[in-house]
Amino acid sequence: MSAPPDYVLARQRAIRDPELFWADHAARLRWHTPPNITCQPSDVSPGLVEWFPDGKLNTAWLALDAHIEDGRGEQVAIIHDSPVTGTKTHISYAELHRQVALCAGMLRSLQVKQGDRVIIYMPMVPEAVIAMLACARIGAVHCVVFGGFAANELAVRINDAQADIILTASCGIEVDRVVEYKPLVDQAIARANHPVRHCVVLQRPQAVVGLQPGRDLDWRQQLAAAVPADAVPVAATDPLYILYTSGTTGKPKGVVRDHGGHAVAMRYSMEAVYGMQPGEVFWAASDVGWVVGHSYIVYGPLLTGCTTVMFEGKPVRTPDAGAVWRVCAEHGVKALFTAPTAFRAIRKEDPRAELAGRYDLSQLERLYLAGERLDPPTWEWLHEHIRRPVLDHWWQTETGWAVAANPAGYGLAETRPGSATFPMPGYQLAILDDQGQPVASGEQGNIVIRLPLPPGCLTSIWGSPERLQTGYLSEFPGYYQTGDAGYIDADGYLFVMGRTDDIVNVAGHRLSTGEMEEVLGSHPAVAECAVISVPDAIKGELPVGLVVLKNDVTIEAVRLSAELAALLREEIGALACYQRTLVVSRLPKTRSGKILRRVLRQMVRGEEWTAPSTIDDPGCLDELALLLQTPEGAEVVGVSQ
Ligand code: COA
Ligand code: AMP
Repeated sequence: MSAPPDYVLARQRAIRDPELFWADHAARLRWHTPPNITCQPSDVSPGLVEWFPDGKLNTAWLALDAHIEDGRGEQVAIIHDSPVTGTKTHISYAELHRQVALCAGMLRSLQVKQGDRVIIYMPMVPEAVIAMLACARIGAVHCVVFGGFAANELAVRINDAQADIILTASCGIEVDRVVEYKPLVDQAIARANHPVRHCVVLQRPQAVVGLQPGRDLDWRQQLAAAVPADAVPVAATDPLYILYTSGTTGKPKGVVRDHGGHAVAMRYSMEAVYGMQPGEVFWAASDVGWVVGHSYIVYGPLLTGCTTVMFEGKPVRTPDAGAVWRVCAEHGVKALFTAPTAFRAIRKEDPRAELAGRYDLSQLERLYLAGERLDPPTWEWLHEHIRRPVLDHWWQTETGWAVAANPAGYGLAETRPGSATFPMPGYQLAILDDQGQPVASGEQGNIVIRLPLPPGCLTSIWGSPERLQTGYLSEFPGYYQTGDAGYIDADGYLFVMGRTDDIVNVAGHRLSTGEMEEVLGSHPAVAECAVISVPDAIKGELPVGLVVLKNDVTIEAVRLSAELAALLREEIGALACYQRTLVVSRLPKTRSGKILRRVLRQMVRGEEWTAPSTIDDPGCLDELALLLQTPEGAEVVGVSQ
């Protein structure tokens, strides 16, 4: 199978002389001080490189001021389409620039300095983008927390980022349910050890909330009184943002992204991966709280001079399964990016895609999917009904942009269902076995990226650079360990099959089973527990808890299950979709006490399993297998009444 010739050339160039390849792409940006050095070894993160270390620029200036200088001031920068509030708002580059400069001025007036961290906890409103760009404008580091996370998650991030300021809104709207954010923020501030100096609240008409005098400030009043702030040039290696993501332990990891490498990668990927040009309309149907939102709702499109669509709704129920097609038609979307789960939800409601037929989709050229495995049936459904290239691509919070994709900017390769296609130029992939040896083509193993990583990838883990080494770089020396398993076929197509660790992917949201176990373990009836994922027809995976009760505990299964679900919702958030608990008498463990999660996962999925030689108590597995074969009945087994 031949890859597009231009892609092959670019890939070869990037392998032969990565510095030249990236220096050329960097030269397309307008730097305050162009870099003389393309990259050098990183002191903070041995194994990685610092990109463009002597260059200076400002990401927000590039995303706004540069376009205005180029005459794009009147072009629409953001289309905010919000079926949940019944509004559609078009914001030009000039207006966005004005509001960002005011917001930056407001931050200055609150004594926010370059390098200070600012938490943004907002729903899908334009002010979230304004807040992000305002931080970037003055060199402050934003840390966006997804609105679906509960107070405790917010508190953990306030502490870890040591953030003094929170920018928030009074509420989000989940279909027809108003979710007040302010009580969650208040709880988080109360729980956090790090003191929050100010909390700026965007009051939305759906919920006007009380403000605590002195600490809380009204967004609109503050902006009205603010003096616009200019963009300050920052070092290319300065942090632009921290974005927390789930690891295998209970503590989330703060992925740090720089200004320079990130801007170069965003600009490059918008063209190379998505084939987008200035003036065109791009829609990433995700949330600003995730990396997809950071890279392709905000920075990628705005750095490129595109129009970005911000959608405050769901693929179904706002009001129906035609919402995605309506938005594409109405706003002239050229490329749409979302998670497969969104299409599985749409297909369930509209199996023959009749609603798509009601809209003029002539401007829509390509569909992009990522965030979880694109299962072949969903690929086939889209292919059959939408009749556009359906392009799976694979990446993660840490990489910030696609590691593997069908490189539209160089010409499309033939798609293969289940495959994310080829590595993007700049990434060199290998598949290694657990001993670190390369496997033959077609054989499954650990997907790793040869070091150094290209621009745009993480530069460190905030506050714990050693976690970068232990979590990603130490297992396979010379490579970055992605945590995903998969294979490369004889034609070079990459197939990503799933995580090698205990991360669960619920509706494209990455969650840590370790963190869920900490929460379940805090229930007074629970002696020990394991959270594993089970397949779900819409959300891809759902978490299920296996719990062992304390000896002296008497609790009804239904009550326990409800209490654990409520606890998880309270501590982590509704997005975890935790509903199912199975009570078991013991958990299978190795002789050193490690829970055998892989075997449990295989059992729950009805897959073949074998007891590892290291197991402590082999009889335990047979008992569990019997229990898990009757999943609906299992909830009650082992519970004392
Ligand atoms: N604020 C508050 N609550 C939120 C929230 C937010 N920003 N986002 C989700 N939630 C809540 C939901 O209201 C829901 O609560 P409920 O259990 O009380 O109903 C729960 O978290 C689960 O949300 P969600 O996963 O969105 O489920 P859903 O049933 O409402 O919708 C889909 C299902 C498939 C339509 C939805 O998951 C979807 O659109 N997925 C697209 C995936 C995506 O964008 N992934 C991002 C990475 S690319
Ligand atoms: P996140 O960091 O939240 O973006 O999640 C990244 C993880 O989601 C990856 O490590 C994969 O496990 C999974 N993922 C993302 N995109 C894909 C894809 N196209 N195919 C398979 N898995 C994917």
